[in-house]
Formats: sequence, structure tokens, C-alpha cells
Amino acid sequence: MKSIAIRQAFLDFFESKKHHIAPSSPIVVKDDPTLMFTNAGMNQFKDIFLGNDPVPSPRIADTQKCLRVSGKHNDLEEVGVDTYHHTMFEMLGNWSFGDYYKKEAITWAWELLTEVYKIDKDRMYVTVFGGDKSDGLEFDQEAYDVWKDLIAEDRIISASKKDNFWEMGDVGPCGPCSEIHVDMRSAAERSKFPGKDFVNKDHPQVIEIWNLVFMEMQRRADGSLAGLPAKHIDTGMGFERLSMVLQGKPSTYDTDIFSPLIAFIEGQTGHVYSGSDSKKDIAFRVLSDHIRAVSFAIADGQLPSNTGSGYVIRRILRRAVRYAYSFLDRKEPLLYALSGVLVSQMGHFFKELRTNENLISQVIREEEESFLRTLARGIQLIDDIVAKSKQAEISGDVVFELYDTFGFPADLTALILAESGKNYNETGFQKALEEQKARSRKASVQDTGDWVVIREVQGTQFLGYDTLACDMTLTRFRKVTQKGKQLFQMVFDRTPFYPEGGGQVGDTGYIESAGVRIPVEGTFKENNLIVHVTSKSPEGLDPEVKGVVAAEKRNHTTKNHSATHLLHHALRELLGTHVEQKGSLVESGYLRFDFSHFSKVTDEEIRNIEIQVNAMVRKDYPLEEFRNFPMAKAKSMGAMALFGEKYGDEVRVIRFGESVELCGGTHVQRTGEIGFFKIISEGSVAAGIRRVEAITAAAAEKYIFERLDVIDAASEKLKSNDLVKSIESLQAENQAMSRELESFRKQKSMQVKAELIDAAELVNGVQFIARRVHLDPESVKDLSFQLRRELSPAFVVLAVSENGKATLSVALSDDLVEKSGLNAAQIIRELASAIQGGGGGQPFYATAGGKNPEGIDAAFALARKVLGKS
Ligand code: SER
Repeated sequence: MKSIAIRQAFLDFFESKKHHIAPSSPIVVKDDPTLMFTNAGMNQFKDIFLGNDPVPSPRIADTQKCLRVSGKHNDLEEVGVDTYHHTMFEMLGNWSFGDYYKKEAITWAWELLTEVYKIDKDRMYVTVFGGDKSDGLEFDQEAYDVWKDLIAEDRIISASKKDNFWEMGDVGPCGPCSEIHVDMRSAAERSKFPGKDFVNKDHPQVIEIWNLVFMEMQRRADGSLAGLPAKHIDTGMGFERLSMVLQGKPSTYDTDIFSPLIAFIEGQTGHVYSGSDSKKDIAFRVLSDHIRAVSFAIADGQLPSNTGSGYVIRRILRRAVRYAYSFLDRKEPLLYALSGVLVSQMGHFFKELRTNENLISQVIREEEESFLRTLARGIQLIDDIVAKSKQAEISGDVVFELYDTFGFPADLTALILAESGKNYNETGFQKALEEQKARSRKASVQDTGDWVVIREVQGTQFLGYDTLACDMTLTRFRKVTQKGKQLFQMVFDRTPFYPEGGGQVGDTGYIESAGVRIPVEGTFKENNLIVHVTSKSPEGLDPEVKGVVAAEKRNHTTKNHSATHLLHHALRELLGTHVEQKGSLVESGYLRFDFSHFSKVTDEEIRNIEIQVNAMVRKDYPLEEFRNFPMAKAKSMGAMALFGEKYGDEVRVIRFGESVELCGGTHVQRTGEIGFFKIISEGSVAAGIRRVEAITAAAAEKYIFERLDVIDAASEKLKSNDLVKSIESLQAENQAMSRELESFRKQKSMQVKAELIDAAELVNGVQFIARRVHLDPESVKDLSFQLRRELSPAFVVLAVSENGKATLSVALSDDLVEKSGLNAAQIIRELASAIQGGGGGQPFYATAGGKNPEGIDAAFALARKVLGKS
């Protein structure tokens, strides 16, 4: 039975039992803080079990994409090393929400396995929950009684809480379960040892295929158990393992789910997979498994990155790259091409793979390329370290250095070290990491004095969303020395100054008290204090001051911040929802926005983004601001939160038309104030991360005017309205003229050459030429070389006099150099004195420059004298 038919038979069977067939939920979990990835089929139904969500349909069946690489269910390290764990796998499941319970769940499972899939009953074992004293739970007699009518009692095993009480995570719905195991060993082995002995003992051929969970409890955060409002069924069958059983294969990797991937890797690397536990075969399994995890995650919107779920995906990908590199001798990207095989194999059922085919392969390729560069360097370094070290434990400092200097992740170093039977000192590594953090903290603020408290007031109230100036009271200040400069930091009870945050720069301005004005050069936040920086001492200042924000600068900054939101919205609309904000800088002069995207944003896309943002500007959307807004409500409004950002229960939401973001920055009252939006650059900052810089309002106007002025000035000079055409014709003319000039040059030097040869005299048996020429230096050299080759023996002195300067060259034929011992470099030094200059060169050719053209004749005379004496 092909795997496609196996999956379909499952769904058809439960459809015949009145189940609604549901699609798989995404593999990436966005709205559950306890989970990064879907790790079980029941995740999407969690709130139904808990009684928080209504029951959509009492019976559901599906196949769910799962990923077990983080949290309570994490199999990453086993994957590839054994032959039956996977990171990404499909879980076939059927659910009853307060409808049928144990009897139907067990009976139908048995019917499907024995009558539809026709698995031999004598190869199967089942488990039931044996009870647990610490949780006050009883033996599951009810399940046992159902089973004993279906299967021989000696095939029913009582199992512990560890294996037979299923929990989604540390908290959440849970309940006793009953598993079905299949013994795939050969007849000979089965007769030697009963399969019963291997159930739940990590035997690669006595494996669990289906878990039936009887969901009737929930685990609370304090560790206690409570009942659920109703009793539910949650079953999960490993699709890959079921395929292995039905296809009679020794492992999941030998089924038709993996064989096309393995065959492709064989074709690409020239290695052959043999299913052993050699490093090479582990690499085959790692690659064919990990490509699925990474591709499905990218298809569901999770790009590899440096934090959170993105980092988990990056690590999986890097693990695969590294196995290919070390054990399949593959130093070039490979996985990106493997993703194509996966898409053609599974894209018919999981359409998201097909839709995102290009994104998947491009993201993977960029990641592979960048990691391969790091890898080659890092592996070399680790090998050197291992070769030099006699101890089993490598110091944490060394591992830290690899991490710090070469970006080589510590967990990967550990993996590579483990291959040579070494490990590293993790405490030492952590210590080095902490020290580095402390160092960088120290480098940024040095020598901070104690606060001088003026008024006992806690925190600072921020008024800057509504006003740019207000009365305020100085509550404390301190002296700091930063990079050798003495500064003062001041805190007030309230302030209109925006402290740097959310990408937006801190405000500047001044404070004033009794005629004394102190400039505010920057503002930032330290816990709940808003700190104002100045270089003028506030000592002795009357604490009652007026604070005034530099309005124009704030104004420009504000426009740029609102424009950043519109840009973010336009990027997601035009490039796709894989675009996620990765960082931003909002200043008065410009804005910068980093986001995940796999390829260069083309000129055409840039133009469309500008058009869309400007359309939103012209729509003149009013600012809709929601302060102290519940997070849950913000989410249901579709507010975009930043990945990896921490938000409290109450947030601030900023809406302009369709753009809705969680944001603490300052914003325009209406988008029309932004005036005009222009992108001025686009580039890459890291694999899969692009950066756009843009300007707005007056800055954009200035930029456009300056460019138009250039065009006008050029048109004026060219007397043309079609600049491009005029420039093209100028270029063509220029090229033609250059060619003509070149041929004139050649002609001229031929002529000069003929004249020089005519003028040659015999001095001491040598053809001697000493003449003034009117040629460029390149032609002089060319001519000298021709003459010294063609005349023999030859002594050629050429002089150029131009703009009050003189240049001389001396060229000697090879035979003259050899026989007479004359040396052009020596001669030129003597001649140079006549033109008041200096020079040098080689024995056969040398040049000199000088400031006295009058001396050229004297130089010629000197040359003749040198030759005469030789
Ligand atoms: N929730 C159970 C499991 O993941 C059955 O689906 O194994």
C-alpha cells in the first residue's frame, strides 16, 4: 500500500464513522505562549477540551503536521541516530468532543488496523494505564475490559504514568491512554524472545503506532489535577510508522515517504544509503528528516532567524548542513534542491508546500551558503583544538571564543567535540558569556556617579504623546563620564521628552528655570525612569523647570515613525505575510526598516511599495490610538506584534486604516502629514533579511527637487528633452572619437619612428639617437622599445618638453647592455642632473623627469659622451 493510499484509507474510515474531516492546523504556533510548534494533533483542539471554545463538530478526524523539537516533546537529538524518530511527522487522529468514549475509540482502532489495514493480530500488543499513587489515579479497568474482548489477555500490558498518562505540556488537558504496538521482527527472533518484553523499550522494530488518549483531566500550574467539563477522545497514530508496518520495511526511512529523498541525496553525493548506524547513514536520515521540518515550517511562515521559533528552525537546518558537510563530503548547498523533491512528493496533499516552493528553496539556499562559510572555518578550528588538547574536556573559554569571534554556536561545537569523545566546560562557557555582557555594559556607560536626590518621587510620568512642553520638577540627577566626556543625567516627575525606544530616537530640546537654560541632548529609559542627558551641570538649578522638546526634530521623527507603519503594511501586502519586522530605526532625517524576505526587492517592487504608501498618505487616515488596551483585544483587532518582543497585559495600539500595530512611539494625527514617502536604498543585512531606508515630507521633497535640478541642468547643457537618448548618442560619439584618436596616435608614432631611424648616427659603432619628440609617455615607451629591438646595437635618448617640464628616457638594445656593460638606470641618473630632476629604471630602459627643459641639449651631449667613452 502506497503511503498516499494509507493516509486516505484512514480518513475514509473515520468519515464512514460520521467524522468530519478537518485540515491540518499550521505547524507553527502563533498564539499559545506554552508552545512554539504543533507537537500533537490535539493542540488545535486544546480549548475545546478545556471547555473554553464551543464544539465545532462532535467527531473530527485529520492528519496533523507535528514538530517535536522543543519543550516537553523534543526528539531532535535522537533523529537520524535511531531509525524511528522524526522531527516533523504526520499524526493521523480522530476526536470525540464529549461524544463517544473508550469503547468506540478502541473498537474502531482495532477494526481499522485488523480489517482495513489487515495487520496480523499476532504481531500486536496493547497497553493500558496502570494507575499512579502520587496523582491518586486508578488502573484503567474500563479500557482493559474493552480490550480483552478483542485481543488475547496476555497481549495487554499494564503501563506506568510515564508511558500511559498523556499530557500536552506542563499544564493543559491530559488523561490516561492506551497504546497499540506492533512487533515487526522476523519469525525467528519472535520465537526466541516474546515481543511483550520489548514494548516501550526503544526497540526499533517493536514500535508504538497509535496512542488513544482518554482526555478527562487537566494539569494545573500548581501541579494538581482537575476534571474536565466533559470526557473526550484524542487519538494519534504515527503515519510514517504505520507506513513502515504496512509496507513491511525495517524502518520509516525505508518507506516511500522517505525513499525519494534518500535516492536524491544518493544521486547528489554519490554515497549509497544502507540503513546502518554509520555516520554516513545517520547523515542520510538527518537530511531526509530535517528537510521536512524546515520546509513545512517555512511554508507556514516561520523563517530561520536568531530568536525563538526561528532559531529552532535555523538550528535544525544547520544540523543537516553540518551532517552533509562532514559525513557526505558535501561542501556545497544541497538541501535547497532536496526541498524541491519534497514539494513534488507531498505538495499535492499539503498545498502550502507548492505555494511556497520558491520561498522555501531560496531561504534554505541562503541559509546554507552563509552557514557553510562559518562551518568550514569553525570545523578547522575545532579540529586544531582537539588535536592539541590532551584532556577530554575543552575549556569553556575556547568554545566561547569560537562563538564570539566566528559565530559558531556552542551546541554545534559540542556535537563536533562529541565525535572525538570530547566535551566542553559549560560553566566556563556561561561565565565567559556573562563576562562579555558585563564588559559591553561597562563600555557603554562608564563611571556613573550616585543619584543626587532632590525630591522623593518614584518614576516619571510621560506626557509626550499629548504635549511638547510642560512644567516639571527635577527629582534627581547624577554625573557620568562617557568616553572621557563628562555628562549629567536628569530625571523629572513628568516629562514631554520621548525616551529612545521601539526604534524611535530619544527627544532633544531644553529645560529652563529662572532664566537658566540647559540643553537636553538625548533621552532614554532606565526601568521606570525617563533620563534626560545634558552636558551642562544642573547643580544649584531651581528644581521647578519648564521642559521644551525640539519640536521640528520630533515632528520629522514622528512622520517617519508613522510612515514606518505604512511601509510595514505595504510590504506585507505586496511581498507577502512572510515579511516580519526584524528591526527599525526612526530618526528625524530618515527611517530604516529591516524585515524577513528571501530575495532582493526589485526596482519594480520598490516603486509599487512607494505608490502604495503614498496612496495611504493621501487617504489621510486619522490616527486611532488605544492606550492601556487589553492585549487579547489588540490581537483580535489583528495588531502586528513584534516577534521576540515582550508585551504586558495592557498595550498601546496604533491604527491607520488597515495598518494596526502594537507601538509605544509618537505618531501623526493624520497620515496626510507625512506628505510624501520615498525609498532611498534597499539592501541585505543578513541571510533572508532585507533593509529599506526611506525619507518623508520635507526631506523627500528636497531629495526629489535636487534630483530634478540635476536633470534640468543636464537637459540645459545637452539642449535636449530626451536625456537618456542624448547621453547614449554622446557615448557613441565619444567611442568613435576614441577609436579615431587611437589610430592617429599609431600613425604619428610610426612617422616619428621613421624620422628617428633616419636621424640615427653611428657613435662608437652604436646606432645613437638623441631627439626631442612630441608624444605622450605611453607612446614614448612604446617607441623606445621598438627602436631598441629593431636597431642593433642601439642607444636611444628621447626627450619631451611640455608645460615647463622635461622628461627623458634612455633605451639600450640588449646586445649593447650585455657587451658594453652600459646601464640605462645609471645613465639616466647622470642625464637627469642636466634637467634638474631624478629618475631610475632597469639596465635596458630608464626614465627621468625634471623641471629644466633648457637642459635637454646638455643631457643629449652627456649621453653622447657616455657612449663615446664606452
Ligand atoms: N495526544 C496524543 C499524542 O500526541 C494522541 O494524539 O500522542
